[in-house]
Amino acid sequence: MNIIGSALEHYYGQEYILRGIDIEIKAGSFTAIIGESGSGKTTLLSILSTLLNPTLGSVTFDGKTIAEVGNIDTFRRHNIGFVFQFHYLISYLTLRENVALAALDETLIDPLMESLGIERLGGRYSDEVSGGERQRAAIARALINRPKIVFADEPTGNLDSKNALGVYELFKRFSDEGTGFVVASHDKKLAEYADTIIEMEDGIVKKIYQR
Ligand SMILES: Nc1ncnc2c1ncn2[C@@H]1O[C@H](COP(=O)(O)OP(=O)(O)O)[C@@H](O)[C@H]1O
Ligand SMILES: [Mg+2]
Repeated sequence: MNIIGSALEHYYGQEYILRGIDIEIKAGSFTAIIGESGSGKTTLLSILSTLLNPTLGSVTFDGKTIAEVGNIDTFRRHNIGFVFQFHYLISYLTLRENVALAALDETLIDPLMESLGIERLGGRYSDEVSGGERQRAAIARALINRPKIVFADEPTGNLDSKNALGVYELFKRFSDEGTGFVVASHDKKLAEYADTIIEMEDGIVKKIYQR
């Protein structure tokens, strides 16, 4: 899915956050949004992923605006996966049940958990596994309906650097298989895994480059 953001601007109340942003996310690409805390990464990612309406400007998904994609819930469920800094797994459900809760096709659960290396942890609860394993379960939940694109905001913010690289490697692997990723992080290491890097500074795109 090709996503184009045109002339995006965003205000929180009177505060002017994003200014004049034009951006294209190519289908199946791995895009990193990097920049310091407060530079506008979360705001931009939220706008590109349908979670936040920009104050000005528009976002299109394969040429269609949000108003034109039909039912937004259906659109998200079939097209988009989300991963956040805090895994947001339900603590009363096992890892497998958390993935199953979102799944449109249950036969995909076990193969996906296996490919993420957490198949033997399916019966455990989130407080019975490590931070890296928890985040892999959250990634399984994001990938279970084979979304065209996954948006991840600081997905490694709670992980040590070894587990963080493990998460980037997983994203890269699924990206090589055709899933698009847009990942926001203050961690510069992320850029080494992406094919497009968007560098944010004080609410503007400072630089976009391809690797
Ligand atoms: N809901 C909000 N209300 C008011 N200001 C906000 C809100 N969210 C973010 N901001 C401000 O917008 C700026 C950009 O924030 P954000 O997009 O979260 O940046 P980043 O993810 O790079 O840290 C910051 O100055 C932040 O304080
Ligand atoms: Mg942020």
